[in-house]
Amino acid sequence: MVKKTFYITTPIYYPSDKLHIGHAYTTVAADAMCRFKKQTGYDTWFLTGSDEHGQKIERAANAKGVTPQEYVDRIVAGFKELWGRLEVEYSDFIRTTEPRHKKVASSIFQKLYEQGDIYKASYEGWYCSPCETFWTEGRLDDGNCPDCGRPVEKLQEENYFFRMSKYSDRLLQYIEEHPEFIQPVSRRNEMVSFIKSGLEDLCVSRTTFDWGIPVPFDTQNVIYVWVDALTNYISALGYDSEDDSLFKKYWPADVHLMGKDIVRFHSVIWPILLMALGIELPRRVVGHGWLLLDSGKMSKSKGNVVDPMELIDKYGVDAIRYYLLRELPFGSDGNYSEEALAERINKDLANDLGNLISRSIAMIEKYFQGLVKVPAENEGPDRELVELAEQTPAAVEEFMDKMEISNALAAIWRLVGRANKYVDETAPWGLAKDESNHGRLATVLYNLAESLRFITVMVSSFMPLLPGRVWTQLGLEDRPDLTTWESLSWGKLPSGTVVEKGPALFPRIDMKNLK
Ligand code: ME8
Ligand code: MG
Repeated sequence: MVKKTFYITTPIYYPSDKLHIGHAYTTVAADAMCRFKKQTGYDTWFLTGSDEHGQKIERAANAKGVTPQEYVDRIVAGFKELWGRLEVEYSDFIRTTEPRHKKVASSIFQKLYEQGDIYKASYEGWYCSPCETFWTEGRLDDGNCPDCGRPVEKLQEENYFFRMSKYSDRLLQYIEEHPEFIQPVSRRNEMVSFIKSGLEDLCVSRTTFDWGIPVPFDTQNVIYVWVDALTNYISALGYDSEDDSLFKKYWPADVHLMGKDIVRFHSVIWPILLMALGIELPRRVVGHGWLLLDSGKMSKSKGNVVDPMELIDKYGVDAIRYYLLRELPFGSDGNYSEEALAERINKDLANDLGNLISRSIAMIEKYFQGLVKVPAENEGPDRELVELAEQTPAAVEEFMDKMEISNALAAIWRLVGRANKYVDETAPWGLAKDESNHGRLATVLYNLAESLRFITVMVSSFMPLLPGRVWTQLGLEDRPDLTTWESLSWGKLPSGTVVEKGPALFPRIDMKNLK
């Protein structure tokens, strides 16, 4: 049977500086989505990368006294190291300075010129270098960039323009006919009113700096960095190249994931570029909220950033991934603080999940020498637990289809909570006291072990290291057939399995030591 495909992308980040946990959020969310789709039977492709051209990079390199290429090489090595530490399993990493990308971006530009969608004209406008964005006078906010509020620079020159205006009705119609195209709906409404306010043709070339892909028919100009960058989603698949098998297989993308700051580029410029090229549009452009600090949006150019490497060293990768994925509700902003992170770890991970695992395994060791015994008939509280366990995988799938990762985790944690309550209700320590209750005790401990199997299989896309550690304790390390998504039907854990307690999974953090 041919598997359904799933192609997800992150933005390609600017290597102007090190990444912070805002970037980590997007990439970890895409990784979790992709792992989940793979786990539930899809043939997946996950693309991330770096957006290496533009004035901002050129200036940063000049300030350090190195060439732009030297500058980005060093920073991109850091990106890859961070993704490795975060257990991000991308299928490909595209750099816009790679020949395979430059070739495609350049030939697309040529094609659009030849068909008359790119033309030359004189231009006067305002440029925001940190955002790499042009603005007309009318769009400025008190003379500053309406996106970031910083000063803009006046530019006047001959430039190439992309006929965006020509496609605006087609784009509006497409958005109307595809309500799922821009998500969440608040972003979609914003984009619709932005397009309705009138699309201007887009200036797509620059002459005042060199660090870019040359316009193929007029090499004094470089291609506007956003046009260059957006094409990464197809250049990386080999579009318009000798081997375009990945493009044929995975395009259109199922999800372009990003922060809300750049939804406009992805839901206006990108679809129009694709329309002009006669390429199918991506299925979903998803804009998540921002991680905020007390000082506002975390951003490289503001310098108020939190370094994910330090957090991983301190708390471990599973805990950081859990916090990020749990804390930001779909589409809304969330506040970052180390206290909130430590509280989440203590409550959800150490108290709820960690304790459930350690006390379940400890009781099986203590009462049955580590042996999971044959369960008897289920009664009252057992049925409630089993029923919830059996419903949870479908609930998780439903949330993940809507990209509601935080709700998917909440659903798994409802089962964790139910299982903890089950321990209190059944009080295995009481049953253990009387030999005649050992049949009942066997059932209770079996149900707990089976719950742990369900929970760990379900969390594995979000927290990739934890399940393996628990499966060793649960005697499942040599039973890959019992840790797949399809294996989640109740009662598959064989009796006779031997469990063995391991080290604590999530040590509690002493809040006094935070600062
Ligand atoms: O925009 N909270 O790159 P960039 C949540 N090169 N997410 C955040 C965040 C925060 N505080 N800060 C950054 C670019 N992000 C372009 C993209 S794509 C063809 C070109 C994440 O380095 C979020 O995904 O400025 C946001 O959209 C992205 O980083 C911007 O990264
Ligand atoms: Mg940015």
